[in-house]
Amino acid sequence: MRQTLVAGNWKLNGSLESIKQLVAGITAGAGDTGNTQIAVCPPFVYIPLVSNLLADSKVDVGSQDISDQEYGAFTGEVSGPMLKDFNCTYAIVGHSERRALYGEDDAFTARKFAAARKFGLIPILCVGETLEEREQGITEDVVARQLDAVIELEGIDAIGDAVIAYEPVWAIGTGKTASPQQAQDVHAFIRGKLAGLNPGVADKVQILYGGSVKGSNAEELFAMADIDGGLIGGASLDAGDFLAICKAGN
Ligand code: G3P
Repeated sequence: MRQTLVAGNWKLNGSLESIKQLVAGITAGAGDTGNTQIAVCPPFVYIPLVSNLLADSKVDVGSQDISDQEYGAFTGEVSGPMLKDFNCTYAIVGHSERRALYGEDDAFTARKFAAARKFGLIPILCVGETLEEREQGITEDVVARQLDAVIELEGIDAIGDAVIAYEPVWAIGTGKTASPQQAQDVHAFIRGKLAGLNPGVADKVQILYGGSVKGSNAEELFAMADIDGGLIGGASLDAGDFLAICKAGN
């Protein structure tokens, strides 16, 4: 039985003061979230602070991105070893905002996935289609292509060491959540694709849903057979909302 994982992607948000308050709120309620695994992904500059504040809690820390490089002349990059220095557990790779706004293609995402694994981090591999792609009926082709880029580089077994997040781009930050059945359909496609390559990996891998998850819709989403939790944006910036989503995972 897969554990529910709820990860908060804080994106480009927060300040020293607001993050201290947010973390205090999350840690105050984390003990009431049962068996749900919890993680938060701050902006890079706040990872040391958040990691230190969460050290004695059940809440793990992750990054929103990771360099495909280990060290050297790569201005502005943050490497896996640096993230491990501050006890990061996860690294998000291939978020649709990185793909769309910063030109990260499937091959680059696959290299970042490989770097995360190489340095002992659990990659959270984001996949998902745009509204145009969904309307064209090519959602499964897009998601399969994004998965194949990683599988071709790292092999199917590597997916078993990772987390997958299905985030329909048209549901991110829009308030237009995919219906539980819409999300389940794509999650089932992902799991079925992986099962064709390695049934054990398919059964083991947590597949999260991301895209306007709120305390009000999380329980219905997480009740679906192939939805193992959520990658949460806006709602992760409010401790009460985020904890409500974490509790929905029980
Ligand atoms: O990575 C999670 C994020 O893309 C979802 O954002 O604000 O729709 O929950 P939001």
